[in-house]
Amino acid sequence: MPLREVYLDNSATTQVYPEVIKTMQQIMGEKFGNASSLHRRGTEAERILQASRRAIAGILGAKNEEITFTSGGTESNNLAVLGIARHYLRRGRHLLTTAIEHASVLEPFKQLEREGFSVSYLLPDERGIISPREVTAALTPETTLVSIMHVNNEIGSIQPLSQIAAAIKTKNPATILHVDAVQSFCKLPLSPEALGIDALSISAHKIHGPKGVGALYLRAGTLLEPLFRGGGHEKGLRPGTENIPGIAGLALAAQMGIKDRKVKASHLQNLKEKLINVIQSEHPRVKLNGPRMEEGAPHIFNLSFPGFKGEIILHALEQKGIYVSTSSACHAGSKDPSHVLKALGLKKESLEGALRFSLSYLNTAEEIAYAATQINAVIHKLKKYHGL
Ligand SMILES: Cc1ncc(COP(=O)(O)O)c(C=O)c1O
Repeated sequence: MPLREVYLDNSATTQVYPEVIKTMQQIMGEKFGNASSLHRRGTEAERILQASRRAIAGILGAKNEEITFTSGGTESNNLAVLGIARHYLRRGRHLLTTAIEHASVLEPFKQLEREGFSVSYLLPDERGIISPREVTAALTPETTLVSIMHVNNEIGSIQPLSQIAAAIKTKNPATILHVDAVQSFCKLPLSPEALGIDALSISAHKIHGPKGVGALYLRAGTLLEPLFRGGGHEKGLRPGTENIPGIAGLALAAQMGIKDRKVKASHLQNLKEKLINVIQSEHPRVKLNGPRMEEGAPHIFNLSFPGFKGEIILHALEQKGIYVSTSSACHAGSKDPSHVLKALGLKKESLEGALRFSLSYLNTAEEIAYAATQINAVIHKLKKYHGL
């Protein structure tokens, strides 16, 4: 075990707040009822469920009944994409998404293609941004669903959602817009109502909450075909006994995460700029992939170290207690380069030498200074080893 650790893989997952652990433990131990039971234990659990729903709805500026709890971002995305496309099948069979979505969006679209839908995949520009004009151009009268993520989990590009939503609603008011907001929830301003979003996915473990719990916002009047059949929980949209400790953990993490959001964002932006500047000043060939420094999300960025393999740097940094990743966590075992970086048009050398850094507002300036020093030292050592 290294002497100290600096965790810079917060897009993969985050450390759970001690307050969240405590609340969940209390609920598991003392308030273990089933929210559907009619006795006191049941109403106690039901009250926690409804308070959690109010908390998430409040943060999103939504109505309580527009929030459905799920087992996480993957389920929320599957439920939205498969459920909406299948429900509105008779309206049309054309769907629109982007080439840089998370696998939990792309794979459901692949499934829908097998079911006879036609899917268009929009490419981003070199900064990882999808043009609202291209969204408009790709819409057909048959397009029932558009799914576009808010913040990309590998490069931190932020999609211009309000322009995209306006473009869709102007050309095709009945088309439904789903947004994977797993990496932006509690980090960027996000109001589905104000932006014109009809469905939106969130996940607890990206905001210092527990794994295996998330939610889907579904605008009142938007319908979907459920994935599961069973009891009538969550208005039948997501049957299954509710995970009350997890849901309470999600609500508490969100309430803690949203507090002083702007202060946290500016702290993160400072850390990000510091880390990139210190590395690039010593290693000028290191390249920032995707959005420019000032336009990307403050907590996620991707650097290419040309001439080196990302994985080699990752393990060298691990020895120093610094944890980063080569791409998204679900893709980490794969030998193929990241589909997101490929969609940016990166050359082989940049693809191979890419590393993702993802910060939490709990990272300190001192941690970032330590990480920058260690990263620079590792690169110097590798250059020397390779005679560069
Ligand atoms: C953009 C994005 N969407 C969806 C997910 C899946 O969320 P979960 O891990 O809660 O299933 C992730 C997780 O990596 C993500 O980064």
